[in-house]
Amino acid sequence: MKIDVFTLFPGWFEFFEGQRHVRNAVELGHELTVVDLRSTTPLRAGQVDDTPYGGGAGMVLRVDVVEAALRVRWDTDPVEGRGSRRVVALSASGRPFDDALASELAGEDEVALLCGRYEGFDERVHEHLATDVVSIGPYVLAGGELAAMVVCDAVLRKLPGALGHESSAVEESFSPALGGAPEYPQYTRPADWRGHGVPAVLSSGDHARVRAWRLEQSRQRADSG
Ligand code: ADE
Repeated sequence: MKIDVFTLFPGWFEFFEGQRHVRNAVELGHELTVVDLRSTTPLRAGQVDDTPYGGGAGMVLRVDVVEAALRVRWDTDPVEGRGSRRVVALSASGRPFDDALASELAGEDEVALLCGRYEGFDERVHEHLATDVVSIGPYVLAGGELAAMVVCDAVLRKLPGALGHESSAVEESFSPALGGAPEYPQYTRPADWRGHGVPAVLSSGDHARVRAWRLEQSRQRADSG
């Protein structure tokens, strides 16, 4: 798949791009491209934002600036071409990001992530350029960059081969394999740590019992969450 990230702070993604599962995904043929929104602005002196109509604090990212960035990147009118790829605007006011949406995006050929800054995007970005407006949680970040990395991370690790060991992304928290419930507890050596042991069933060698115990633990976590 191809992921294009549009941001005013491309430097934020340098560390992210160097991480193992991201590099694995790229080696498998997937593409992650980070585009500087400022590099294509049609305004003078690198301007990208403006004061809000109606007044109020802060600045708003201009719709024509976002349009220009998408047009240059895809060499097409991003309004007319809307629908040919998922365009996700990151915003605290968006739909909550979850595992189901991560899986849905991982099934797309092309996904764009738009990172807002300041007071966010002009609403017309959401209405006419984006296909989705997504929030990673009910709190306000200084910008969409960390949110885009969260989405990217959750999506990339679902791509076959990106984790290096296939089963780990299948039976994990919130996956269909666990009925959407949180993952069961995991233990490793030492068997005794400061008097705290490991549930005996896990060393029983009885796979059916281990499986039943894990599903029950997962269910209990869902009930108490
Ligand atoms: N931008 C600012 N806050 C955000 C949030 N919670 N989720 C996504 N994008 C954001």
